[in-house]
Amino acid sequence: MTGAVAVLEPPVALAELSTDLPYEPGSASRARQLVQAALTGWGLGDLVDDAVLVVSELVTNAAKTGCRLEMTLRIIRLTAASVRISVTDGCRVLPVRIEADDGDVSGRGVDLVHKLTRGQWGAVPEPFGKTVHADLRLGRKP
Ligand SMILES: Nc1ncnc2c1ncn2[C@@H]1O[C@H](COP(=O)(O)OP(=O)(O)O)[C@@H](O)[C@H]1O
Ligand SMILES: [Mg+2]
Repeated sequence: MTGAVAVLEPPVALAELSTDLPYEPGSASRARQLVQAALTGWGLGDLVDDAVLVVSELVTNAAKTGCRLEMTLRIIRLTAASVRISVTDGCRVLPVRIEADDGDVSGRGVDLVHKLTRGQWGAVPEPFGKTVHADLRLGRKP
């Protein structure tokens, strides 16, 4: 056989953890705990450090909108080596990536998510808000 051979990842049962969180500062801490527990349980412990940073930024940004009583956090095992973290909030304004200067203390969250996911993030408008997702994969670091 000639030509490129696709490298398929082993099949894995789709697993998803979903929870509603209030628009409070404490929700970021709860989200970090859930991400750590889910990824460790799925054998994706090497993604925990990056995933904890990502979920903190997404939940904190959603909490700032204050558009609905609760946001929805989803942690989804996409494949044996990758996970999606998404946060649905009640605000239709989409996130923007700001390239912050060294001295800037704000405007770093989306840029950090962009870097940690290597651009594998996005925001999808929905009738009553939007979902921001970020995908992390094992072995994506240089
Ligand atoms: N969930 C969100 N809903 C609405 N706007 C958002 C959301 N997340 C980010 N943004 C917008 O993108 C900008 C950049 O976000 P970020 O890089 O996290 O910086 P910061 O939170 O410090 O303002 C925010 O200032 C805001 O305008
Ligand atoms: Mg932010």
